[in-house]
Amino acid sequence: MAPMRIAVTGASGLIGSTLVRSLGADGHDVVRLVRRVPGGDDEVRWDPDGGTVDTAGLTGCEAIVHLAGAGIGDRRWTEARKKVLRDSRVRGTDTIARAAASLDTPPRLLLCGSAIGFYGDTGDSWVDEDSPAGDGFLADLVQQWEAAAAPARAAGIRTAHARTGLVVSGRGGAWGRLFPVFRAGLGGRMGSGRQYWSFIALHDEIAALRHIIDDDRLSGPVNLTAPEPLTNSQVTAAMGRALHRPTLAAVPAPVLRVALGEFAGDVLSSQRVRPRRLLDSGFAFAFPEIDQAIGAALEA
Ligand SMILES: NC(=O)c1ccc[n+]([C@@H]2O[C@H](COP(=O)([O-])OP(=O)(O)OC[C@H]3O[C@@H](n4cnc5c(N)ncnc54)[C@H](OP(=O)(O)O)[C@@H]3O)[C@@H](O)[C@H]2O)c1
Repeated sequence: MAPMRIAVTGASGLIGSTLVRSLGADGHDVVRLVRRVPGGDDEVRWDPDGGTVDTAGLTGCEAIVHLAGAGIGDRRWTEARKKVLRDSRVRGTDTIARAAASLDTPPRLLLCGSAIGFYGDTGDSWVDEDSPAGDGFLADLVQQWEAAAAPARAAGIRTAHARTGLVVSGRGGAWGRLFPVFRAGLGGRMGSGRQYWSFIALHDEIAALRHIIDDDRLSGPVNLTAPEPLTNSQVTAAMGRALHRPTLAAVPAPVLRVALGEFAGDVLSSQRVRPRRLLDSGFAFAFPEIDQAIGAALEA
């Protein structure tokens, strides 16, 4: 693709910082939307809580990638925390969608972060982008998060939602917290271990986001998950293999519920997600297998 000007929110995060590096390395002009005083020409101020964006800084942007949001698994889900999780995504998305729609020359694409939490607990059943929303806090949150992009859709901007699975990385996200536990030999299956975990290597997450940027046919929800989800027991065994550690320290579901509160429901719920739209549009995964994905994370 010819070099483009691309704006990114959540650019300091795990996915955002990796995407910014990847785009910059290929000669794209990347603008970071920051929630503080901008530190240079490549930063533009936005205030997701106050609903404002310095839209002058978005002039000439062909795509906006919106990845900002308070960390889902960072803290216990108190009512106050749930409000932060919801507001940071729903208000943030509404803010960025309105800003994009207001530009004299709107971007071609608004690509929003999203999550497979949309599907709720799907047990052993496969789900794809045509499957309905599930139940629970996360499923409700993701529906509101995606709906908040309506102003961009209404303005005719191609709008896509990257429904991301568990990103395999040692540098952040939920997986980032698994590595130290397994390294210490304290890793083990969670609950029954039969729940499906739909994972994606960080490298493939970034490549898939770039594929969506480049492929004008893709809009609406797109699942970003490896083609063969594994059960938590299988993932646990793979982590043990990769780190040469035992994985006998199973954590019973009630203990997880006490330790993690309501967020335990997310860890224990099963999501067997098929990345149908990525595969149908010709996306090739570099690290489709869990051993490859963990190996890549260890080398990063
Ligand atoms: N990592 C995963 O496994 C995973 C899985 C599914 C979905 N996702 C979703 O993908 C998106 C990016 O994930 P990530 O792993 O890169 O997340 P991350 O590392 O937690 O980064 C998110 C970024 O959002 C911004 N942010 C933090 N708190 C905020 C708040 N209260 N209001 C507005 N912005 C805030 C921060 O960037 P600035 O300080 O630069 O503004 C932060 O670096 C998130 O929406 C996440 O829910 C991630």
